[in-house]
Amino acid sequence: MIIKEHTVKTKSRHKIRLGEPLAIGGQATAYPATDLSTGTFGIVKLFHDQFVTSATEQRIDYLVSERLNDACKCIVSPDHIISDGKIMGHFCRRAKGASLDELLQKGLPLTQRIQASIALTHVANEFENRDIAHGDYRADNVLAHKTGSVIEVHIIDMDNFAAPSAPPPDCIGDLLYLAPELRISMNTGSPILPDILSDRFAMGAMLHEIILLKHPASGHDDTPERFDETMSAGVWVHDPVRANTHTMAGGAPAEILNSPYMKLFRRSFPLDKIERPPADALNKGR
Ligand SMILES: Nc1ncnc2c1ncn2[C@@H]1O[C@H](COP(=O)(O)OP(=O)(O)OP(=O)(O)O)[C@@H](O)[C@H]1O
Ligand SMILES: [Mg+2]
Repeated sequence: MIIKEHTVKTKSRHKIRLGEPLAIGGQATAYPATDLSTGTFGIVKLFHDQFVTSATEQRIDYLVSERLNDACKCIVSPDHIISDGKIMGHFCRRAKGASLDELLQKGLPLTQRIQASIALTHVANEFENRDIAHGDYRADNVLAHKTGSVIEVHIIDMDNFAAPSAPPPDCIGDLLYLAPELRISMNTGSPILPDILSDRFAMGAMLHEIILLKHPASGHDDTPERFDETMSAGVWVHDPVRANTHTMAGGAPAEILNSPYMKLFRRSFPLDKIERPPADALNKGR
């Protein structure tokens, strides 16, 4: 419901003012936005025409009804749906800070990287408890804000989620974080969806980047084929107990890890997806 230029109305009848486009993604355009009914600053994403479908509408309705924001303050999920037959999208609250990816590149102390990883495992746990796969875990979809020595993180971009009672997502995730079973299906063209077990693989890969400052395939990725092979091998190639782990991989050596992290990475990348530990195993020391 565009009621005047740069203003849209949600199904719940909130009037939202849009700013200039912030980012044009594969599925939607993101705008800074203000909910004029409550004064809340947020982000509106309006889907590109080919994604304006009843399946997309059902998916957004599902997310709004799950009220994930109330369940965990580190999750930013849509609060309102925008749908008038022509435009379709959602409004969610705005998270502070820059992408975690950017902060990692600039340099973030280990203590803050550990704080961020613990918060992210709580997020993963919240999703798992509801049988929702985020479907696009990567440091680019985490916004991080520093207050003194404390770092606050928010996971954003729920548009690729998968859940048993919602229509399936259009993508299977980001190439850098795909679990082996998703990778095989992509390469063979057979249908598959992300699930909480493929999310465990992606979360393991993201935590590896946060803690060790390198991707789990780093140093074993000189060609796309080698990268694919490494990611499909079912092993943690940086495991200090493996021979030949000291390559030109960059980042920190895996020897710096304490036992819970060592266990987490050792168990995150197997081919048998059932073996991948829930992310909160890190917090429980399982
Ligand atoms: N809740 C939010 N708070 C603050 N900034 C946000 C929020 N949601 C999105 N953004 C900003 O907008 C950018 C794009 O959003 P998002 O990650 O959801 O979509 P995308 O990855 O560009 O695209 P798509 O999902 O369409 O492929 C983010 O990188 C971030 O800078
Ligand atoms: Mg994104």
